[in-house]
Amino acid sequence: MQLLTTPAQLDAWNRANPRRTLVPTMGALHASLVRHASTTGQPTIVSVFVNPTQFNDPADFGRYPKSLDHDCALCEASGAQAVWAPAVDDIYPPHTPIAVPPLPPVATLPGLEDAHRPGHFAGVLQVVKRLFDLTGPTIAVFGEKDWQQLQLITQALGQSAGGPTIIPSPTIREDTGLAMSSRNRFLSVPDHSSALSLSLALRAGAQAATPAQGESIMRETLEEAGVTPEYAVIRDASTLLAPRDGQPARALIAARVGSVRLIDNMPWPAAR
Ligand code: PAF
Repeated sequence: MQLLTTPAQLDAWNRANPRRTLVPTMGALHASLVRHASTTGQPTIVSVFVNPTQFNDPADFGRYPKSLDHDCALCEASGAQAVWAPAVDDIYPPHTPIAVPPLPPVATLPGLEDAHRPGHFAGVLQVVKRLFDLTGPTIAVFGEKDWQQLQLITQALGQSAGGPTIIPSPTIREDTGLAMSSRNRFLSVPDHSSALSLSLALRAGAQAATPAQGESIMRETLEEAGVTPEYAVIRDASTLLAPRDGQPARALIAARVGSVRLIDNMPWPAAR
């Protein structure tokens, strides 16, 4: 496996691998994303770049875990052919404005992530477009845990917009049900117990007969654990607006547990 850190190294790798799968990450990544990418049968390149423009909380940016050596070892063991770790100036060259692609309705109309993290999705689209432009992938893999981000990128930068095929990678969970996230390491022991209420609430809500009942069950389950959600909703899986008859729906929760903001989602209703 190769570690690429300069634009020249990236260009050479791109030329040698005409069809390639990109896994965009900010590092501290989970092997499942890379293993999933390897199933595309194309050489996989994993980008590791902590994007400053998508953090609306400077403290969150400052404490984002950096573990390039560990990430490289994990990528190699999981079947990646290259890790690309660009410098900030390679992504955002000084004195060169990098455009923010127009935000599709799914970014703002649902009033979910965008309402609690203003500007976050503009930063995500900006960097992902730049990563796509520099790596030119035919396929790109994104985790389902960031469900709204996955819809946003698919709709704004995916195949229908002339970009790569976007492949979702399923959420990996601890045995406790907690969705794996680089943020989990910041949970204290009591907060870790409270955090389990997110997946419990999603599972309980998925048994309800209607979305409205599902939403109240989710809120009750979270309240019992002392967790106040930013949102706990059941929405159309693609538009993230009100569920539509006969269309896939998704239950989504965001909540602060201690100092850590967690998000999770599951299909709604549960398979019966
Ligand atoms: O999901 C993430 O880790 C980031 O938002 C992404 C897509 C790598 C863009 O920085």
